[in-house]
Parts: sequence; structure tokens; C-alpha cells
Amino acid sequence: MKIAIASDHGGIHIREEIKHLLDEMGMEYEDFGCNCETSVDYPDYALPVAEKVANGEFDRGILICGTGIGMSIAANKVKGIRCALCHDVFSAKATREHNDSNILAMGERVIGPGLAREIAKTWLTTDFTGGRHQNRIGKISKYENN
Ligand code: RB5
Repeated sequence: MKIAIASDHGGIHIREEIKHLLDEMGMEYEDFGCNCETSVDYPDYALPVAEKVANGEFDRGILICGTGIGMSIAANKVKGIRCALCHDVFSAKATREHNDSNILAMGERVIGPGLAREIAKTWLTTDFTGGRHQNRIGKISKYENN
């Protein structure tokens, strides 16, 4: 699985933590910034990652900002993206099983690095259940395509 990861200035520490996790898990990834601690704009990082996932260049994306909210709002504007903002392990598992989410968003000002790791690990290793859930996400795709 190939992962695209990015953060704004509010998410750089958790981004580094998740990169360590991806290294430990032997997962291929590319880091799309940000490369500074000065203030940047989260859509400049969320939208390119979302487009790379939507066009199939990457299988999944992980986005981190202060709250995770801005990143998730921006990513979900891209057709084909199902970005889930998760701050607990239950939601991370459920959103993979039920929503087949293809981007995970987290907020560094909301949770610590240990929980972020557990959330990301769960999200990366949980499969989509399909069945009735496929039908439901199909309705979202149909709406997007109209
Ligand atoms: C940046 O200050 C902050 O607004 C951003 O990281 C994020 O929380 C937005 O949703």
C-alpha cells in the first residue's frame, strides 16, 4: 500500500510520528510537507494529497493539522475522497469497515502521538466490510457523479 502524508504547521510532530510507524510497518510513503514551522494554509496540503489518492497515484492518504477539521473538510471536496477525521481507535476501525475511508485526518492539538499511532495503525490494517456498506458509499459516488 502506498501512502501520501502531509500536515500543516499544526501537525508536524504527529506527521513525524506516523512516518516512524509507516517505516516500522514497512509501508511505502511519500511526504508532501509542510517543510516549515511558520504558518501555512492547510488546503495547500490537503488538496494535492486528496487528488493523488483520488487519481490512484497513492492508495491512501494521512493528513494532520491542529484539529484535523480543516484537512478533512478540504480533502472531502475532492471527488472520490472519503476522508475520516478520527480521534479514537473505535472510529478508525469503523470508518475503514463501513466507509472504506481512503484518507485519515487527525488533529495534533487534540490527541497525543501515542494515540495517533494506534489510530493510524488500526486504520491502515482494517479492511472494508463491503456488502450493505458498499451500497451506501455507492450512493455517495452516485451523488458526486451527478
Ligand atoms: C492552524 O492554526 C489551524 O487552523 C489548522 O491547523 C487546523 O486546525 C484547521 O482546521
